[in-house]
Amino acid sequence: MNKTIIVSNRLPVSLQLKSGKFEFKASAGGLATGLGSIYKQGENLWIGWPGNAVEDRQQQVEVADELKKLKMAPVFLSKEDIELYYEGFSNETIWPAFHYFTQYINYEDAYWEAYCAVNKKFCDAILAVAEPTDTIWVHDYQLLLLPMMLREALPDATIAFFQHIPFPSYEIIRMLPWRKQLLEGMVGADLIGFHTYDDMRHFLSAVGRILGLSNESGYIQADHRLVNVDSFPMGIDYDKFAQAALSKKTLSKKKKFKDQLGDQKLLITIDRLDYSKGIPQRIRAFDKLLEEREDFHGKVSMIMVVVPSRAKVQSYMKLKKEIDTLVGRINSKYSTLNWVPIHYFYRGFPFEELSAFYSMSDIALVTPLRDGMNLVCKEFVASKTDQDGVLILSEMAGASKELVDAILVNPNDILAVKQAIIDALTMEEAERKSRIGSMQASLRRYDIFQWVDVFMDRLTHVKQKQQEFQSK
Ligand code: G6P
Repeated sequence: MNKTIIVSNRLPVSLQLKSGKFEFKASAGGLATGLGSIYKQGENLWIGWPGNAVEDRQQQVEVADELKKLKMAPVFLSKEDIELYYEGFSNETIWPAFHYFTQYINYEDAYWEAYCAVNKKFCDAILAVAEPTDTIWVHDYQLLLLPMMLREALPDATIAFFQHIPFPSYEIIRMLPWRKQLLEGMVGADLIGFHTYDDMRHFLSAVGRILGLSNESGYIQADHRLVNVDSFPMGIDYDKFAQAALSKKTLSKKKKFKDQLGDQKLLITIDRLDYSKGIPQRIRAFDKLLEEREDFHGKVSMIMVVVPSRAKVQSYMKLKKEIDTLVGRINSKYSTLNWVPIHYFYRGFPFEELSAFYSMSDIALVTPLRDGMNLVCKEFVASKTDQDGVLILSEMAGASKELVDAILVNPNDILAVKQAIIDALTMEEAERKSRIGSMQASLRRYDIFQWVDVFMDRLTHVKQKQQEFQSK
């Protein structure tokens, strides 16, 4: 009986050391929920890094035993792996390049060597449990070399790859000295998925120009194998957000927050701390609004949640300082004793509180400079069970291709973002409801479970097509 193995850099739990004992904290992410329908079945499992460096052999055995009960297997990263492969090549080379921040790319041979070595580490962990015809679904940019490593070891396995971040234009990918190896690594898969049609097109163009492989309707022929490339826009666990918004816990949090804030219009922004999210630009747009429109003072405020992330990477530290300064400047300029323009939180929140933030806010401001998909905007829409709210969404987020009823903006155009906030604040109720209503209908339908089904069905179809191709 064939099994399915899910592989990602991080496992859907994170390991925490509390008073000398290990504990696992489950990830609340939609991907973990969606893939739960796969890895929790039968012999299936999820392989990845449990977070933190566990270097003691005995502790590694204990962690592996605990994870086994959760249908997971660990790949342990040493401190050096974390520094060179995770913070280094993954987040200082690929991440900035693929998000078009070429000024932040670090071209370090030592990073590249660590990236190859850790991808090999993942490959070995998979080979320790995989049978020749198992299905292996690899996720994201930290593991671009893995599909081909697996293909070489298990030629008859079914291998899929999904990239959760953008795939940049050929002009960017060609800047990387390791571009050829990265693309070769990816084409080891039978099916390669991206969030958007544009990502897919960029990938096909890079594969054509760098590897010399042409495609026909999304099928590439590599080493006598057919590889399918397509877009699969990822959804969220819609019911979870819609139901949470009406749950007792959320309603009581919402009441408490509303009482504290009084009667004012609320804008919500939630992101990981990341330069791709356009946080400073968004704050400047809000500043512009307050500068021009005194009539909004005391009547509108922004709740800004910034979740700490990759705190050891230079560009992230620099960004944190920039945001702190900007928020300080605006709050000190406009605050009164009973009104603060920006409620700024540099920390994560429990699910019920996020749900309360979403459902009590009038406007969500989601303005990344570049984003593979962006799920925050989808979570906001799903949480607006009274259908009364407005989404302002960046054209540069993958989600903008689906959520066309949002107010779409260019996030670099501060004046346009400022105007979008004014338009959102003054939009008629009927229009607000009709826009949210139509976005809800599509998000409810194309949820995370549907995404997993569609992807897996396609994988089966690709395997059949390959067999027909080989028997010709
Ligand atoms: C993005 C990536 C994921 C990554 C996540 C959190 O969504 O696509 O692969 O896991 O950010 O980043 P981190 O570096 O904390 O894993």
